[in-house]
Amino acid sequence: MNQWLASDLQFHKLYPDAVLAQASMHWTPLYIARKAAEFLAAEKDAKILDIGSGAGKFCLAAAAYQPNAFFYGVEQREYLVTYAETARITTGLQNVFFIHGNITGIDFNHYDHFYFFNAFYENINDEYKIDNSLAYSKELYSAYNRCVYKQLDKKPAGTRLTTFHSTEDEIPPGYHEVGSTDDNLLKFWIKV
Ligand SMILES: C[S@@+](CC[C@H](N)C(=O)[O-])C[C@H]1O[C@@H](n2cnc3c(N)ncnc32)[C@H](O)[C@@H]1O
Repeated sequence: MNQWLASDLQFHKLYPDAVLAQASMHWTPLYIARKAAEFLAAEKDAKILDIGSGAGKFCLAAAAYQPNAFFYGVEQREYLVTYAETARITTGLQNVFFIHGNITGIDFNHYDHFYFFNAFYENINDEYKIDNSLAYSKELYSAYNRCVYKQLDKKPAGTRLTTFHSTEDEIPPGYHEVGSTDDNLLKFWIKV
């Protein structure tokens, strides 16, 4: 796996050219994935959910950086799940799993900690639309944020959340910021 982690450019060779146009805007850079994974893998065998996992870059990199944790990605676009699974097979990683589905159908009780890279923003900003395969709306943006907020709210104290480029609409007040990068784009939260 280490050869894929040498650089973002190298990692992107896991994917066909057709999907790489999404990479710079929609996929987590490796240095961010490393920091996020280190924070989220707080205990051995922790189960971490990536909310909107795209082509799986965060999950795959995080799983390689933290082999004692399990990373799960839920993604609504089936073709991205296929790219993620193909990349997983190429890397041989055993601690990462991809689920095709909408976040509204996921039970957060099955996971300990969460990663969120601004997954719903495509609903309110034309520049962030990944493709034309889905309907976008402000209503969906609010509904998805509400869904994540409610489920995060029910999680026990000690639950960790890492956000990247978040509007923070999805974060209940019980989550306290415990760190961030200097530019404030990556933030670490723990429920108290
Ligand atoms: C910004 S990308 C992040 C990809 C991945 N987390 C990474 O960092 O490499 C957000 C992804 O969330 C997915 N997404 C958006 N809304 C979703 C929903 N309601 N349920 C599941 N996936 C969703 C999008 O299709 C997109 O692939």
